[in-house]
Amino acid sequence: MANMKIADVVGARPQFIKLAPVLKAIERHNRDHPDRPIHEVLVHTGQHYDYEMSQVFFDELGLKAPDYHLGVGSGTHAYQTGEMLKRVEDVLLKEKPDLVMVYGDTNSTLAGALAAAKLHIPVAHVEAGLRSFNRRMPEEINRVLTDHLSDLLFCPTQTAVENLKREGITEGVHLVGDVMYDAVLQYAELAEAKSEILGRLALKPRSYALATVHRAENTDDPVRLKGIFQGLAALAQEGLPVVVPLHPRTRNALSSLSISQSLPRDLLIIEPVSYLDMLILEKNARVILTDSGGVQKEAFFFRVPCVTLREETEWVETVETGWNTLVGCAPERIVRAALEAQEGIGCAWPYGDGRAVD
Ligand code: UD1
Ligand code: UDP
Repeated sequence: MANMKIADVVGARPQFIKLAPVLKAIERHNRDHPDRPIHEVLVHTGQHYDYEMSQVFFDELGLKAPDYHLGVGSGTHAYQTGEMLKRVEDVLLKEKPDLVMVYGDTNSTLAGALAAAKLHIPVAHVEAGLRSFNRRMPEEINRVLTDHLSDLLFCPTQTAVENLKREGITEGVHLVGDVMYDAVLQYAELAEAKSEILGRLALKPRSYALATVHRAENTDDPVRLKGIFQGLAALAQEGLPVVVPLHPRTRNALSSLSISQSLPRDLLIIEPVSYLDMLILEKNARVILTDSGGVQKEAFFFRVPCVTLREETEWVETVETGWNTLVGCAPERIVRAALEAQEGIGCAWPYGDGRAVD
């Protein structure tokens, strides 16, 4: 198709990272095929807006500035998704793209897909077919609905393809590999060259644990949140410093429960870090503890043992290969799993060859 127009709808931290290799691939295509360029329209919903949750990724990864910044911000699910739906629709009506691309499983993903589908614009879903089979997660609802609205479903793993098949989705399904692996391969070298995070935090490789916590199922449940932070604090007191780049959602939850004040100093709570700093922190950690989807995978890519602070995961291959242990939120399980974390046994590589975008 000559002069194809694609609208990318993003809005949350992991989406800026997934977008980066896609934008590079579009640039490459336009260089190699000047006769049939792709015109890309970048739409930022504004779901994440703090500098360290959004702009830092544009600056560091060299992403173009959004063509539209919708400034939706935070709110309840219905408010946030509804505002995005209205504002994305305005953009789509004006731009009339041939395809809308959405990423992952956030409210920005669902809003982009739904606005497009209702206007009969084909939808491409990057990271299609992931399932936790837990409908209490907002992300699970976003995934299921987005997949059923999509015309092109780009799956990172064979498991994702099978999940779609079970729901009757077989058309337009492509097993392409994981775009976050593309990103790691594309930026790991730059991270080594640029990041000064280990020096800044006075950390030596393999002498610390790295932890991230932000899932609603953990932050919005005081019992779970307390359990997790008790576990992380106990781990730090066992002599393994724990670095915690803290998501704003979790910072708010901790301070409303007055948990922050009682945490030990070996629990190094810092602002969210940039992607390049995060890659260096991950690569050099002795163990990673997280409830993040992206961070579980990056632990696997770097072959760092992972302890997942959830009851289930969509990234089942990381568990099957022995690199990831699901522990939930009980403090003693968290400490034991982190101290006993071993390298996995599997050499299986379910996430593609780092060229998911090609
Ligand atoms: C969202 C996604 C989640 C994803 C995560 C990535 C949904 C339903 N959830 O969760 O799947 O894993 O992004 O990080 O889409 N806040 C700030 N500053 C910001 C952004 C958020 O202070 O820049 C605070 C606000 O108090 C806000 C809260 O964090 O209410 C939650 O933000 P929200 O975008 O609703 O969800 P996340 O928890 O970030
Ligand atoms: N990340 C980052 N800085 C941080 C925490 C995470 O750059 O302080 C990156 C991380 O390396 C991964 C992505 O953000 O690429 C994961 O996003 P997040 O954990 O917010 O969401 P999820 O993957 O769970 O949807």
